[in-house]
Amino acid sequence: MKFLALLALVSAAVATPALFPFGDNAQEPMMGDVLPTSYPGFDLDLNAPRLVQLEGQEEPITMTELEKIQAKAQGIRFFDVTDAVDLGSRAQLRASVKPSYPTPNNTKTVKPVIDALEIQNLHDTLDKFTSFRTRYYRSETGKESQRWLLSKITDLTKKYAPEPLQKSISIHEFGHSWQQSSIIVSINGTSTDDDSVVVIGAHLDSTNNWPFLPAPGADDDGSGSTSILEAYRALVAAGFQPERTVEFHWYSAEEGGLLGSQAIAKSYESRGINVAAMSQYDMTAWVKRGTREEVGIITDYTDVDLTEFNKKLVEQYLSIPWVETKCGYACSDHASWRKAGYPSVFTIEATFENSNHQFIHTQNDKYDISDEFSFEHMLEFSKLAVAFAIELGGWKKST
Ligand code: BES
Ligand code: ZN
Repeated sequence: MKFLALLALVSAAVATPALFPFGDNAQEPMMGDVLPTSYPGFDLDLNAPRLVQLEGQEEPITMTELEKIQAKAQGIRFFDVTDAVDLGSRAQLRASVKPSYPTPNNTKTVKPVIDALEIQNLHDTLDKFTSFRTRYYRSETGKESQRWLLSKITDLTKKYAPEPLQKSISIHEFGHSWQQSSIIVSINGTSTDDDSVVVIGAHLDSTNNWPFLPAPGADDDGSGSTSILEAYRALVAAGFQPERTVEFHWYSAEEGGLLGSQAIAKSYESRGINVAAMSQYDMTAWVKRGTREEVGIITDYTDVDLTEFNKKLVEQYLSIPWVETKCGYACSDHASWRKAGYPSVFTIEATFENSNHQFIHTQNDKYDISDEFSFEHMLEFSKLAVAFAIELGGWKKST
């Protein structure tokens, strides 16, 4: 009953009078602070009710946005299911038709694309992406950062994709009830008999533990967003024309409780879209001092067969080994796809324990905070995304 004690604590905080300051130098609120009802540049009602599924509890409970923020800061894990209570209602049906995954065997096609990946691009994209005060999903700068990413994707596509391929690519915003949209980029498959889709995802939003404070979100999840963008760039530059449709997703509002990815998974579920595989990239930059550089393969809330396939890709195409690890809870957007009954995997910067717990969700989640932040490490994840796209998407080259 940990959460009941917490709720009591939160209510006490809201009731006791003392003025809470805000602005760039503001601290997280203390017990006893009276919180303003609105913050400039943010559209977040701290009193708004939400339906929240707490980790390990049967039934969802109602709590306010403020209580959600407090819960997250205290390490209480949850899914905010307000807008997607019925996600996964068709999951059972799909579980009976499980896709199988090949042994990776397209080295000749994958290798040249991997060799074209560039560290400088990772740096330049992340430098801009982390310059927004916050990418919080209910903030103006959160919206601006998402628009910037959209225009970056559009520019890269025009610059690098050969003319005929451009016709197969669609880039669109997936709108939500909050300001910041998710982004979906689709490279249409050529196959006429296989309608399945391969999805590579990351979350574009960031947050501070106290959401009104700055949140550069370099590692969480500027790194994953940037790693998959560079994979996309290299793929289209190589003229990648997959047999299956391959999509790149940048989700809004992961930090709000997997909101963007749940909305998208729900939409795919209701349209009967056949997602053969989904791969999430959340935190790809951190190599903790004194640890071996490796790739963390998350084994909870993920698909066993697709995870085995993902490990093989690491062995075949990356310069570093994999290590199995667990979040212990539904820690990122792969969990939304799993809930909908689609096979998903999650690959992360290290074991969960050796990941960057020190700086995420603070104003110090920056790429220049420590030499533990590694663009070389990020590039390993770009390689993995390239391999995932080609090995599962298929690519019959005409030459
Ligand atoms: N990137 C984190 C998950 C994470 C945290 C991975 C620490 C490895 C180490 C993600 O953005 C996040 O913050 N998830 C939330 C849960 C989500 C459902 C709101 C979390 O961990 O509290
Ligand atoms: Zn996070």
